[in-house]
Amino acid sequence: MIEKVKSGISGFDAIVSGGFVKNSVVTIYGSPGAGKSIFCTEFLREGLKNGEKVFYISMEQDIDSFLEQCDSFGFKEFRENLNSNFVFTRMSGHDFKNFLSIELPKILQNRKEKHSRIVIDPLTPFLWEVKDPSLQRNVLTDTFKMLREFGTSLVTIERYGDINRMELLEDIAIPIYLSDMVILLSMVFNQNFYQKAISIVKMRFSSHSAGMHPFDIGNNGINIFQDQPVF
Ligand SMILES: Nc1ncnc2c1ncn2[C@@H]1O[C@H](COP(=O)(O)OP(=O)(O)O)[C@@H](O)[C@H]1O
Ligand SMILES: [Mg+2]
Repeated sequence: MIEKVKSGISGFDAIVSGGFVKNSVVTIYGSPGAGKSIFCTEFLREGLKNGEKVFYISMEQDIDSFLEQCDSFGFKEFRENLNSNFVFTRMSGHDFKNFLSIELPKILQNRKEKHSRIVIDPLTPFLWEVKDPSLQRNVLTDTFKMLREFGTSLVTIERYGDINRMELLEDIAIPIYLSDMVILLSMVFNQNFYQKAISIVKMRFSSHSAGMHPFDIGNNGINIFQDQPVF
């Protein structure tokens, strides 16, 4: 029996037969501003609401700006659980390869209780740093294997250019290939505005919607409109 984990994102579980597959690694890619970080934040918030331990690894933001963004949405669970059920680590500097292959395993193994939800946001600086495909593959194979032992994980990748064309995804092919599930957050331009939309590119061990579903980001986060067409 495949166990599912509730995403915490309004409208999402309905398009993926109940939620994420437990202990899977999910890659979310999309252009800047598409909503990747907010998606991840809401996923962890759902865990905190259930009393789970959650872990946010940022390669971009510091804790203060993260908490400010949470405040703007009224996500009070993060301040309430800071350094107890909610752990935040910021990886800054240069050596992202070292962080993923040496420091992160130590951080995870030192915790007595397992984190059930983990986010790495974004993985992009690592992909910029490690260009060699076989090295990228080695490091990410080990990282993803470890993440699966600890919990259900979301990993984001910032993507530029025409993200709807699969043949142009070569630069992020390895994390996509190694992930159990891949989600695309796109922005579809129509006349005068960008409509945000979500699609499931790949999902192992589960059925899912084949459609592109519009969503917006409101005062309380992401809302996916599962039954509406993009335009
Ligand atoms: N408090 C807010 N209320 C409504 N929408 C917001 C709020 N904060 C950010 N947004 C929207 O979310 C977008 C950024 O989302 P984010 O998850 O940070 O994107 P990404 O991580 O994909 O770059 C912004 O471009 C804006 O459209
Ligand atoms: Mg982001």
